[in-house]
Amino acid sequence: MNILINNVKIVDAKRAFHGSILIENGFIKRMFKADEDVNISNDTEIIEGKGLVLLPSFVDMHCHLRDPGYLYKEDLESGQKAALKGGYTTLCTMANTKPVCDNTLVLEYILDKSKKLDLCDIIQVSALTRNLEGKEFVNFEEMLRHTRLFSDDGNTIFNEEVMKKALILSNKLNFRVLTHCQPEFEIVKRDLGLLKEVGGNLHICHISLEKTLGLIKEFKDTNLKFTCEVTPHHIFGYEVDYRVNPSFRKKEDVKSLIEGIKQGYIDVIATDHAPHSLEDKQNGAPGISLIEVAFSMVYKVFHENGISLNKLSELMSYNPARILNLNCGLIEEGYEANLVLVDLDEEYQIDTDNFISKGKNNPFNGEKVLGKVKMTFKRGSVKYDNR
Ligand code: NCD
Repeated sequence: MNILINNVKIVDAKRAFHGSILIENGFIKRMFKADEDVNISNDTEIIEGKGLVLLPSFVDMHCHLRDPGYLYKEDLESGQKAALKGGYTTLCTMANTKPVCDNTLVLEYILDKSKKLDLCDIIQVSALTRNLEGKEFVNFEEMLRHTRLFSDDGNTIFNEEVMKKALILSNKLNFRVLTHCQPEFEIVKRDLGLLKEVGGNLHICHISLEKTLGLIKEFKDTNLKFTCEVTPHHIFGYEVDYRVNPSFRKKEDVKSLIEGIKQGYIDVIATDHAPHSLEDKQNGAPGISLIEVAFSMVYKVFHENGISLNKLSELMSYNPARILNLNCGLIEEGYEANLVLVDLDEEYQIDTDNFISKGKNNPFNGEKVLGKVKMTFKRGSVKYDNR
């Protein structure tokens, strides 16, 4: 099936123009400028894009779908449907499931179930150590058959020798270590120091403090291989009384993260979508459910701070796709037609009652956000349609 998305504003990390896009067999076949003649076959479906913006769909390097084990919080179907509603087509799902994803049995269960669902593309993150205990490594050889991402996520690796060894192996076996750092500044400082000492591939999850950004700046121009992310909620709100890891920070931290984005120090915006039940939240579980409103939260912040949509696309699609070696994240001929059609002018209130996600835990319920996802395409097929 061929699709023409007609008369639309096309924006990615590198371009912004009015025109049309022809999708053939799941790939971007041709792009037409507004003044060019569009010649297409009779069986092409035409989607009118007037007044809307077409972006590469979003790639989430960090989320929790809770399957297996915590299906009352989320499952692979609810989480991926929520993601598609939010404009995401690729998700890196964290290993803190039950059982923990530290072996191929669990990993293959997640990949097989997701393949059958045919919703998002799932890149499962393997635990770095068995049962996320920070002691004994998983079997890298086996896990590397399916993934190049390893993380103990919420469990900081406190043992320096374990972290050092992980970095050495990440270089040798060509994988990436995703780190959750608590206390943030101290652990990021330690890990960047270790990276300098032994090399390796590091991705620093959800930085949230001005002083951590200072470390990132200090190490950025070296040839060390590291990237870092911020979450939508850590640039959207400050001093919010709601439990999440890392915590909500001060206004100055938020301002500096936004400056850091403008100056090019932040590589990725990742959601850290962490759905929980009401009861679990009441019992102190940290985390926010936000994948279906993440784009609107980020766009509102970017719009208010004069940051371009190109930059948003760079952080939410292009950079994560490059880091993960995917053939998407740009609107260019030959790329997979993973796309999202948005209405930038639509303002709406977050309403957790309308969440597809089972997690209704979002402290911004009722707040206004900007920019709404209308359609999401994965390899040319419509996976979400809200026109
Ligand atoms: C994470 C979760 O719920 O899985 N929560 C969060 O606040 N980010 C775990 C964690 O990182 O602590």
